[in-house]
Amino acid sequence: MCADTLSSPVPVITIDGPSGSGKGTVSQRLAAELGWHFLDSGALYRLLACAARRDGVDLDDASALADLAGRIDADFGFSENGEERVLLDGVEITRTLRCEDTGNAASRIAALPAVRTALLAWQRRYRRPPGLIADGRDMGTVVFPDATLKIFLDARPEERALRRFNQLNEKGNNATLDEILAEVRARDERDRTRATAPLVPAEDALVIDSSDLDIDTTVALILGQIHLKS
Ligand code: C5P
Repeated sequence: MCADTLSSPVPVITIDGPSGSGKGTVSQRLAAELGWHFLDSGALYRLLACAARRDGVDLDDASALADLAGRIDADFGFSENGEERVLLDGVEITRTLRCEDTGNAASRIAALPAVRTALLAWQRRYRRPPGLIADGRDMGTVVFPDATLKIFLDARPEERALRRFNQLNEKGNNATLDEILAEVRARDERDRTRATAPLVPAEDALVIDSSDLDIDTTVALILGQIHLKS
């Protein structure tokens, strides 16, 4: 990074896009390559959805959800065999966190402005030296508008559904491809049309369609953009 970039508080690269665009894997790879921190902002919405289920909080009750967001304790880590391990208030919830039901509940509560505001400060606390890769839907538009580089990673819905289907199959889930495609489309529609922080590329974002790109190529493309900024 050039002196200019380094003199900004802490550099952030935002990777926004719909689910299945590959942004999670790409973001983690970039964070590892650069030795930077990684924020999976979707996991925070998912975690709050899990906590709401646990406490019997209605998914439409914005103020109770915002209140709950201020009380939960999250621990993101890895088990000894390198698999993701997430604790909610000390209890492991990794599988529940990543299931489709939780993704849909997260998408519902994410449409509530009070919930988004409640998660803002939490997300910004991830911005620590030497830098942050922030993965989400509104990282470049709302949470880190001053990011060094903004990427919007997209892909055709059919391709994203297929990737999700393969991922879920590996984990032993047995939803059909048609079911997954319907869910992908419904979630896209909700995320793109909501009034607060809709899923849209930031004006200064570089849009990459990953439909026909593998992860290595996508990562190399973004690293190239980072070097152009150095
Ligand atoms: O990325 P992931 O599928 O884990 O996100 C779950 C849901 O959380 C998304 O469908 C979206 O509605 C919401 N979300 C959001 N803003 C973010 C990250 C996720 O609205 N920055």
